[in-house]
Amino acid sequence: MRTDPLAYLGKELDLLKEQRLYRHLRILEDEQKAHTTVDHRSVVNLSSNNYLGLTTHPKLRQAALRAIEEYGVGTGSVRTIAGTMDIHMELERRLAEFKRVEKVVVFQSGFAANAGTVSAILTKEDVVISDELNHASIIDGCRLSRATIKVFPHKDVDAARKVIRDLPASQRKLLITDGVFSMDGDLGPLPALCELAEETGCIMMVDDAHASGVFGKNGRGTIDHFGMHGRVDVQVGTLSKAIGALGGYVAGNTNLIEFLYHRARPFLFSTSHPPSVVLACMAAIDVLMDEPEIIERLWENTRFFKEGLQRLGFKTGLSESPITPVIAGEGAKAMLLSDKLFERGVFAQGIAFPTVARDKARVRTIVTATHTREDLQYALDAFAAVGREIGLI
Ligand SMILES: Cc1ncc(COP(=O)(O)O)c(C=O)c1O
Repeated sequence: MRTDPLAYLGKELDLLKEQRLYRHLRILEDEQKAHTTVDHRSVVNLSSNNYLGLTTHPKLRQAALRAIEEYGVGTGSVRTIAGTMDIHMELERRLAEFKRVEKVVVFQSGFAANAGTVSAILTKEDVVISDELNHASIIDGCRLSRATIKVFPHKDVDAARKVIRDLPASQRKLLITDGVFSMDGDLGPLPALCELAEETGCIMMVDDAHASGVFGKNGRGTIDHFGMHGRVDVQVGTLSKAIGALGGYVAGNTNLIEFLYHRARPFLFSTSHPPSVVLACMAAIDVLMDEPEIIERLWENTRFFKEGLQRLGFKTGLSESPITPVIAGEGAKAMLLSDKLFERGVFAQGIAFPTVARDKARVRTIVTATHTREDLQYALDAFAAVGREIGLI
């Protein structure tokens, strides 16, 4: 009999089990919303990126249903062959207007937008100067580009400057940061980075996945929040988090977007968004413009919950956004915190190495606009009880 050539993977999994880092997928048995059912348990949900509750917003639902009636369920092709419908172009036009840029291209996910863009615009002759905590999709894009990757310590603009000064002036350079860091909830130092990019002739790129719908006027992102319009060459946003549906986009000038139409591999080689997603995203832009009070509610809830955790004595890092990490230390401790919270009806995922550093494992919490004060107080009470039980506070 043939021996299983994949047996080594089983050994890796056994190791994860020994280290108590093996995770079963949690199964959502209801809609993605603030209070939901996961693994047969009714829970306050602090794990989704559904910042504004748009996954279940009636206007998005109706738009998606209408799209299915009018356009069917799929596009049957990549964008560059037969998969560009008039509604794809309309979404890109609406997003460009929203982000105040010349043009936008939509990708199937934020991951595809980052990885597809970085790998398309750079070659092996170029250099990327990248914050050490940038998202995996940026890192993969850098690797695919085969450019030299220079990593600077988190948010350390002076260190980035030193890296750039040591490079030949003629070499093409991309300076890249997350707008909001997904595991810590802090903001990239955009004003200082934009200045550095201008001083040194770097291309400036920001991944605003967690800022879209959250920061800036009507949720335009950190570029708007910091008043950096016109100073960021490549902006990435996602349609999968606050926007409530699925997808990513790149916003910039006409040359950038038309080049990506020709060279970004996920755009060229992967089927375009189904019509239901496209119309749901357009309805989400309407909601951002017509119901800005939802974003206000998100921030009120964020302040209430973050202050509550801090008052209890948890280490919550330097978060400035609705993402608040509760640092537990080693991976097994974070998983224990998460499991015990779950037993009490609070769903907050544990995050361990390799997603975060080995000694900075955490439970990551994200509040949304649709949590009630009762939901959040319930969660804080559970954090207090479990935190004391396992010696975190
Ligand atoms: C900072 C950041 N960039 C990009 C992505 C990818 O976005 P998407 O989930 O739309 O692929 C994520 C999310 O997973 C993220 O956290």
